[in-house]
Amino acid sequence: MTNAKRIILSSDHADIEMRKAIAAHVAAQGHVVEDIGPMTTDSTHYPKHGEEAARAVASGAADLGILLCGTGQGIMMAANKVKGIRCGVCSDTFSARMIRQHNDANMLAMGARVIGMGQALDIVDAFLAAEFEGGRHGPRVEMIKAIEVV
Ligand code: RB5
Repeated sequence: MTNAKRIILSSDHADIEMRKAIAAHVAAQGHVVEDIGPMTTDSTHYPKHGEEAARAVASGAADLGILLCGTGQGIMMAANKVKGIRCGVCSDTFSARMIRQHNDANMLAMGARVIGMGQALDIVDAFLAAEFEGGRHGPRVEMIKAIEVV
């Protein structure tokens, strides 16, 4: 695969089966997948999983990250606390494409209790297929980055 990316996945306990299915789906496309769990359905805390995946993306160990929790919201909030992370929650493919094209998002979060498996896989496909357009969007992303360092 010419455009293979290193993709890191994590979630809380809300739906580890959906996360595993996404990992298999993404790996089948030729991407390099690292699924950092959790591997059981024991109740856990989404901030630590969001942070762990986000730090891998921010450090350059992964190119992009995919996160799940019940709504996608909590794990997105945690990931976005890590400098360099731009993570959006998506329940539709248009938003998933746009957060790459316009916002240069490097992480995608989804709500496992909000959307179904088919929609989740379509959203992942839209996110991974899109690239940042740059141009007029470049200065806007730079403005986001500037907020982080104040
Ligand atoms: C866990 O019950 C739930 O709160 C969590 O998965 C997520 O929805 C938080 O944002």
